[in-house]
Amino acid sequence: MISLQRVSHFYSGPCGQKILALEDVNLNIPRGSLTAIVGPNNSGKSTLGQIMVGLLSPSSGQVLIEGLDLAHWDHNLLTRTIGLIFSNPEDQIVFPIVEDDLAFSLESLAMDTLQIEKKVADILKFLDMEEYRHCSIHQLSGGQKQKLAIAAMVIRGLRYLVLDEPISHLDAKGREEVLTLIKSLHQAGGTIIYLAQRFEELVMSDLVVALVSGRVVWQGSFWELLERPEDMAQWGIEVPPIVRLVKILQDKGLAVAHPIYTVDHLVAALEKLKP
Ligand SMILES: Nc1ncnc2c1ncn2[C@@H]1O[C@H](COP(=O)(O)OP(=O)(O)O)[C@@H](O)[C@H]1O
Ligand SMILES: [Mg+2]
Repeated sequence: MISLQRVSHFYSGPCGQKILALEDVNLNIPRGSLTAIVGPNNSGKSTLGQIMVGLLSPSSGQVLIEGLDLAHWDHNLLTRTIGLIFSNPEDQIVFPIVEDDLAFSLESLAMDTLQIEKKVADILKFLDMEEYRHCSIHQLSGGQKQKLAIAAMVIRGLRYLVLDEPISHLDAKGREEVLTLIKSLHQAGGTIIYLAQRFEELVMSDLVVALVSGRVVWQGSFWELLERPEDMAQWGIEVPPIVRLVKILQDKGLAVAHPIYTVDHLVAALEKLKP
């Protein structure tokens, strides 16, 4: 469990002015969950992500991972427990060749060459990227690069993964590949904290937290979120027209039942209403 208790953070601006990034954030993220923290630009998501992994100390408040205050965690142990993935996969690649980049991630873990080779082979198989083992990273697509960056974290045996808008630089195929990988990591028992800006990124989450101007304004399940398109729009999240349409139909008394967020869902729900 990751627990944030009364976390606030200020940056200092160029003339020494206080810039409020987070204000009194209280949050409990259960082990094994996939939590999406959603908010528009400048709502404080990246600040929150950096605070959760210990890259930034909050101005006030506490972050506890498995009951222990982050300030008291051993740095090496922390980097093997929780990691942060950025939006741009280019920022996270260390070596030009796929297998070298993965092997580098394991270097500090006291493994012998054979163990490292086996781990690298296993993870490439899991990613469905075995044939890219000796390939230059520059030849990979954006989605493959991001999958590799995530794998370089996961291969270290992390239990918690924070992803900061990990699909925002990718094309549609890359977005789908990376979201599929994240779902399978979650199914394999990983705890995922997903910092999101788009509706499509929320679909797979167990818990959605809405962050606006550094404050948590709402938390609940994805299904509960579907009932609140007006709130979503107010929080700065782009709401798919189908979700707004369903709310209008429901308000007019048509008994279409959730979950509906695609045309196919709506067609199926309408067909159920046929006499
Ligand atoms: N290094 C920084 N120095 C000064 N202000 C910052 C810095 N990083 C972020 N901010 C400010 O903090 C607020 C929250 O930013 P951020 O955490 O990046 O939000 P998000 O990731 O949701 O876009 C914004 O007002 C932003 O301008
Ligand atoms: Mg950000």
